Amino acid sequence: MRPVATKLLHWYSQNARILPWRGDNTGVDTAYAVWLSETMLQQTTVGTVIPYFKKFIYLWPSVTHMAHASLDDVLAQWAGLGYYARARNLHKCATVIAHVHNGRFPSDESVLLKLPGIGPYTAAAICAFAFGNRTVVVDTNIERVVSRLCYIKTPLPQSKPIIYAHMDSITPDNAGDFAQAMMDLAHGICKPKLPECPKCPLQSECQTPQSMKANLPKRTPKKQRPHRYGYMYVVRIGNGILTETRPPKGLLGGMQGIPTSDWGDCYPRDHTSAPVLARWHESGQYKHTFTHFHLHSKVFYTSINHIPDGYNTSNGDNLPTVFKKALMYI
Ligand code: ADE
Repeated sequence: MRPVATKLLHWYSQNARILPWRGDNTGVDTAYAVWLSETMLQQTTVGTVIPYFKKFIYLWPSVTHMAHASLDDVLAQWAGLGYYARARNLHKCATVIAHVHNGRFPSDESVLLKLPGIGPYTAAAICAFAFGNRTVVVDTNIERVVSRLCYIKTPLPQSKPIIYAHMDSITPDNAGDFAQAMMDLAHGICKPKLPECPKCPLQSECQTPQSMKANLPKRTPKKQRPHRYGYMYVVRIGNGILTETRPPKGLLGGMQGIPTSDWGDCYPRDHTSAPVLARWHESGQYKHTFTHFHLHSKVFYTSINHIPDGYNTSNGDNLPTVFKKALMYI
C-alpha cells in the first residue's frame, strides 16, 4: 500500500463520520443503501440528504418495495431535493433490479453501468462500498483532494482523466474505505476555500505549495446561464393550493407544480395562460436558479371554491422548491 493510503486509512479509522448509509447497521441491504444515498448525494449536500435517506428507507426498506411504489409517490417524496430526473431514474432502476435481477443489485461495474441513472461514479461506489471490490471512485470532493495532493494545475473538467489516473495509482484494495476517507478529508480538512493543512494526515504527501492550495482545483469558467421570466399562479382552494401534474418529459417532468405562464425572454403581457379567469393580485417576485437558466417569477394570487377539470390540490409539501418559494408570498 502507498504511504498515502496507509496514512489516510489510519486517520479514517479514528475520524470517519457516522452517516446513516454507512456500515452494516442500516438494517437494509447495503447495496440498496449505497445506491440510494449516492443517487441522493449527487449535487446535494450530506446534511440535506440525511432526512430524505431515512424517510426513503422507512417507506421502502428494499429495492423491491420501491419498485412496487408508484412513480408519483417516489416523486412526491423526492420533492425538495431537486434534479428530479434522479427520482425518475431511481424508480426505473428499482423496477429493473426487481424484475430483471430478482431484487438483488449486480456486483459487476459494467452490469451496473447499464442500469437507468447509474453512471461511472455510482457504479464504482456501489462496487467498492457495498461489495468490497477495488474500483476507482472519483466525485467532486475527491477531485479536489487529488488535485491538491498531486498538484494538478490543469483546470477541470479537462483534468478529469489525469485525476482518475492518480486516484487509480493511490487506491488500495480496500477501495471503499479509502474513497470514503477521501470524502471525509475533503469535508473536514481539505475544504474548498480554507483547507486546514496543519490538521491533515497527508500534509507530508501533499505536493501543492501551501500558498497555492486554496486555488486548486482550477476550473474552466462555465457559460453564463440565460434569464427567463414567467408568472406563478397561486390559487387557494379551501386549505390547499391548486396544482397540476407537469408533462412527463422535460424540466420537473411528472412532478406536481402550481400553474404557470410560459417562461420566456420577458414577462407575459397578460394572463391568458392563467388556470382560471379571476382577479389576480400580484404578491411578490423571486428568482430561482436551475442548472441551465435563472427563472424570475412574479407571483399572482387568487382564491376559488371549486377545482377546475384537470387540476389537483396540494398542501405544498410535495412541490419542487421553485413552486414552494411562490407560496411564501401569499
Ligand atoms: N458524498 C458522496 N458520497 C458520500 C459518502 N459516501 N460519504 C460522504 N460523503 C459523500
